[in-house]
Amino acid sequence: ISLKPYNTFGVNVCSSFFAEIFTEPDLEELLGMAVSSAQKLLVLGGGSNLLFTKDFDGLVLKISIPGISSKVDQDNVMVTAGAGVVWNDLVNYCVGNGFAGVENLSLIPGTVGAAPIQNIGAYGVELKDVFHSCTAYEIATAEKRVFNFEDCRFGYRDSIFKNELKGRYIITAVSFKLSRHAVLHTQYGAIQAELLNRNITNPTIADISKVVSAIRVSKLPDPSTIGNAGSFFKNPVIDQAQFESVLAKFPDVVHYPMPGDQVKLAAGWLIEQCGFKGKVAGQTGTWKNQALVLVNHGSATGQEVYAFSEEIINTVYAKFGVKLEREVNIL
Ligand code: EPU
Repeated sequence: ISLKPYNTFGVNVCSSFFAEIFTEPDLEELLGMAVSSAQKLLVLGGGSNLLFTKDFDGLVLKISIPGISSKVDQDNVMVTAGAGVVWNDLVNYCVGNGFAGVENLSLIPGTVGAAPIQNIGAYGVELKDVFHSCTAYEIATAEKRVFNFEDCRFGYRDSIFKNELKGRYIITAVSFKLSRHAVLHTQYGAIQAELLNRNITNPTIADISKVVSAIRVSKLPDPSTIGNAGSFFKNPVIDQAQFESVLAKFPDVVHYPMPGDQVKLAAGWLIEQCGFKGKVAGQTGTWKNQALVLVNHGSATGQEVYAFSEEIINTVYAKFGVKLEREVNIL
């Protein structure tokens, strides 16, 4: 079947087999069958962090396990959601009930089950700040396992599910530790500017959610009209010595200090400086308001997007000596 509706880049590739999973028992049963037939598996949530460069000759499993529940005590609340819940639906549920912690993560595309894999983050908050645990099935054995915070080894857009356990587990549910007493994260300049703009001096979590959504809409293309997968590259983290040499040549390089003598550079800035912002390259290109986002102008192939991303990596490397790494999964 065509996977075009199942990837936000809107790339038209096919898979040999396709199944949609709505419950844990269904997954268990299907894993038994898939494993015994040595089927190649691809697990899909919202398809918002991947780029298909060719047809997938195997079984695509779309995880659509629904449901949100919460356990409230005096100060805190534990919210558990099925892996198939759309991430922003979870955010709206939390904001609507006054559960604080995920409001800065408003409007991030994708599903709850995919969120821990790359430790999604935006505007000063990452999934790991609210993560309690997740339930997952091992593909090889169909055995169920709970991963707690330490097990997941979260890093910047990173977790154990992208490293040692890559391709070995399927997340079916995630639990979040939220608060009933909001501690707001408004340190980002863009949030402060937008609050000021709206004359909001004493923001609620609903205000933060609205403001973050507005910022995202203004900067990022809507995948339902222009195919994309959010930031295509990670912001590169380099050591102090390398940073000094970049700074010497480019005094206005946009950067953020990191723990341990490291510095994070704004990849969008590096790419823009190379003249790529808003560039159209055939059916692909970079977004006009955010150079870090690659887009599909209609009928781009995954190979075309990939080749363009190679060109960006090479050009940025030639100018700055910094190697960009892709954030999206290439298949
Ligand atoms: N910039 C430019 N030109 C551009 C884009 C950015 O000069 O075309 C510079 C600006 O100085 C800007 C700075 O880069 O102030 C940072 O840009 P922005 O605030 O848009 O954030 P980002 O670093 O490009 C990261 C995440 C986003 C997240 C935002 C907001 C990564 C790879 N990306 O982008 O996450 O929404 O911060 O917190 O860490 C995603 O992962 O898919 C994603 C969209």
